Amino acid sequence: MDKPFHRRDLLGIRDLTADQIYGILNSAENFREISSREIKKVPTLRGKTVINLFFEASTRTRTSFELAAKRLSADAVNVSVSTSSVSKGETLIDTALTLDAMNPDCIVVRHPSAGVPHQLAKISRAAVVNAGDGTNEHPTQALLDAMTIRERKKNIEGLRVAIIGDIVHSRVARSNIHLLTKLGATVKVAGPKTLVPEAFEGLVEEGLRVSEHVEDAIEGADVVMILRIQKERQDSAYFPTLSEYAIHYGLTQERLALAKKDAIVLHPGPMNRGIEIASDVADSARSQILDQVKYGVAVRMAVLYLATGGKVESKEA
Ligand code: CP
Repeated sequence: MDKPFHRRDLLGIRDLTADQIYGILNSAENFREISSREIKKVPTLRGKTVINLFFEASTRTRTSFELAAKRLSADAVNVSVSTSSVSKGETLIDTALTLDAMNPDCIVVRHPSAGVPHQLAKISRAAVVNAGDGTNEHPTQALLDAMTIRERKKNIEGLRVAIIGDIVHSRVARSNIHLLTKLGATVKVAGPKTLVPEAFEGLVEEGLRVSEHVEDAIEGADVVMILRIQKERQDSAYFPTLSEYAIHYGLTQERLALAKKDAIVLHPGPMNRGIEIASDVADSARSQILDQVKYGVAVRMAVLYLATGGKVESKEA
């Protein structure tokens, strides 16, 4: 089934050029101010329909996609998988065809299996946006992380970014590594050897480094990104206990002191306080965790606008 020419999927950062990434970020800058108005609504997507189809739990992503759609005046529908016909055994393909028959403009999908948004995009006439697929990608998370970094650091090119934790199960890490290396940052990943791949999709030439020691990755960093320990994706023990993980890999004030004096801290959420990040770091002035959530709405407004036919605008436009 051919899609109408104006519908564009966002399946991963891996597929995007640096120019396309900047296009989305610049559009997000244009949408950002709407969320601070008293009346947080513009008619940009009036008459469009957005379906949120989440097969996994979510607070930030699902709420911000819904808010983004509503602030742009689209009709936003949340399909709750536990009360939908998926719970009666309907296949993913049949669910997708059923939703497609209602002629939505965009389907936002999160699924525990990698590649589901790509499958959906092949059979749906609507634009498909990946809200996280298994351990593969979480493109809007990387975009909102980039917006947060640009806000504090201006340029991403030349920055040193440390990504710490469960790299192997993290779609956030994968999308961020693609985005940050495409935009010219140097990325160092570190964590338990069992959770950090030795070679990461051939990206070493693009500015990716793998460190054995968390301290080595954090030293001199401009940005320290901490990942959640994903117990739901770990079918065997990758480290002895959570308290040992906290001792050896958790971000404490002492470890953060190795980064640049003006380094910022990111975490995609939800946090395991006291495990991958100490509470006094999460709540410190260097933490950008709530700004990440704030910029998530603007980024998702931009993604919905562009996915349903909007034109990329320059910041000045
Ligand atoms: N960062 C993130 O994806 O959070 P949620 O699981 O709450 O959507």
